[in-house]
Amino acid sequence: MTNDPSRLLIVASNRGPVSYGQAADGSLTARRGGGGMVSGLMSGLGAVAADGGGLWLCAALSEADREAARHPELAAVGPGEVPVRMLDIPAGVFDKAYNGIANSVLWFVHHMLFDTPNQPHFDAAFRADWTAYVAYNEAFADALAQECGQGTRVLIQDYHLSLAPRLLRDRHPAARIAHFEHTPWAPPEYYQMLPDDVAIAVLDGMLGADHVGFLAARWADAFLDCCERVLGAQVTRTRAGAGRVAYRDRVTAVAVHPLGVDAAELRARGREADVRAHARLLAELAGGRQLIVRVDRTELSKNMVRGLAAYRELLRTRPEWRGRVTHLAFAYPSRSALPEYQAYTARVHELAAEISAEFRTPAWEPLILDLKDDYPRSLAACGIADVLLVNPIRDGMNLVAEEGPILSERGCALVLSREAGAAALVGEAALLVNPYDVSATADALHAGLAMQAAERQRRSAAIASAATARAPRRWLAEQVEALG
Ligand code: G6P
Repeated sequence: MTNDPSRLLIVASNRGPVSYGQAADGSLTARRGGGGMVSGLMSGLGAVAADGGGLWLCAALSEADREAARHPELAAVGPGEVPVRMLDIPAGVFDKAYNGIANSVLWFVHHMLFDTPNQPHFDAAFRADWTAYVAYNEAFADALAQECGQGTRVLIQDYHLSLAPRLLRDRHPAARIAHFEHTPWAPPEYYQMLPDDVAIAVLDGMLGADHVGFLAARWADAFLDCCERVLGAQVTRTRAGAGRVAYRDRVTAVAVHPLGVDAAELRARGREADVRAHARLLAELAGGRQLIVRVDRTELSKNMVRGLAAYRELLRTRPEWRGRVTHLAFAYPSRSALPEYQAYTARVHELAAEISAEFRTPAWEPLILDLKDDYPRSLAACGIADVLLVNPIRDGMNLVAEEGPILSERGCALVLSREAGAAALVGEAALLVNPYDVSATADALHAGLAMQAAERQRRSAAIASAATARAPRRWLAEQVEALG
C-alpha cells in the first residue's frame, strides 16, 4: 500500500459490504451486504486495490448503520482489508432518495417495470423525492471530493448515484471517474417517460465520468441512444456496446464489462459445513425426486409469478411429472417498504398456495416456497438442482444463472430468460426463454427435466467456464485500466 493518491482506488455505492443490526442490549452486529453489485465488488476489490490502497464509501442504510457510522472505532473493513466509510445521511433524505427515486422510479425505468395505466405519476411528491436524491448524491460527491487526491480513481456504482460523477467532477476536476450501471438501460422511447429535466440530469450526471460501463451490449447501446436522442450529444459507436459520447466540454467512453464469478471461491464456500447440512436436508425433502430450483430476491423484475405459473402449467399439461419433481422456490425478502413489492409478494404466496392445493398428495409436496435470507441454503439448493429456473423480465446480468452451474454437483439444466444480461454470456448452453411466455417456460422446464445427465453436465460446464472467464477481479481491473 502506498500513499500516492494517484494509485488510490475508491469505490462508492449505496449498499456496502456490511450492514449492521442492533441487538436488544444495544450492541451492533455486522452482516454481509447482498445483491449482485456487492458480490462482484466483494470478490474483486481486495486484489485490485492491493498495491495502491482502497476505500469503500457507502451509505448508512439503517439506524444501526447510522449508529456505527458515528463510531469510527467500529469502522468495518471490506474485502482485502479495504476500509469502509459509511455516510450518515439523514434518514428522511435517505428514504426519499433510496425508496422514492432509486427503487420506485429509476429501477422501474431501467427495467421497464411500470404498470403504465397507473404509474408513474410525476407530481409534487416526486419532486420532493427528487430534491432528496440530489442531496443524497451531493453528500457522496462531498465525501468523495474529501477523500480524493491528485489523479485518484473513483468507481461510482449504479442508479443510486447517477448524479455523483458530475457533482464530483465539479468539485474535483482532476479525479479519474468511472460509473458502472448494474441494471439494464431502457431505449429512449421508454426512458423519456421521465420528466425532461430529470431525464437530462441523469444522463448528464453519468457523463461527468470518464468511463461508463454496463453489463451487456444491449444496455450500453440503449444508453448511447438516449445520449443522442435526449441530450443531442455527439455519439460515436465503435462496436456493439461501445462508443464515445461528446457532451459539454468532455468525452466519455462507454463500454461493456460482463460480470462473472470467482468459481474457486464460490465452490470453497459451497463445501463448508453449513451448506452441506442444508444440502442433506433439502435432498431428504426431495426424496429422490428431481429438483427445480429458483433463488432470487423478492424483486418484481425477477418474475416469480410467471415462474410459478409455468410450473403449474407443466404439472397440468404433462401429468407424467406429478409426484416426480419438487420445486424449491427461495427468495430473499427485498425492498419490503414499497407497496408494489408487498402486493407482489402476496400474489406469489397466493399462487404457491393454489399450486399446492391443486396437486399436493399425502406423499408429495409439489412446491416449497420460502422467503427468507439464507445464503448457505441458497448455495445448497443450487448445488443439488436438476433444473435451475432464472426467468427475470429484465436483469442487468443475473449472477444466480452463473453461480448455479458452478455449484452444481451433477450438472444442471439452466432455464434462462433471454432478457437477462447473462444470456449474452452463456448463450445456447442455457435453455433460453421469453420470460413473458409462460407456456414456453413450461416447455423449457420439461426439456430441462427430460435432459440426459451427460447433456446437462456438458451445458453446465460450458456456463461455468464462461462465467469463470469473467471473474470479478477481471471485471474490476478492466474498469480501472480504462481510467488509465
Ligand atoms: C441488485 C442489482 C444492483 C443493485 C442492488 C440493490 O444487486 O443487481 O444493481 O444495486 O440490487 O439492491 P438493494 O437491496 O440494495 O436495494
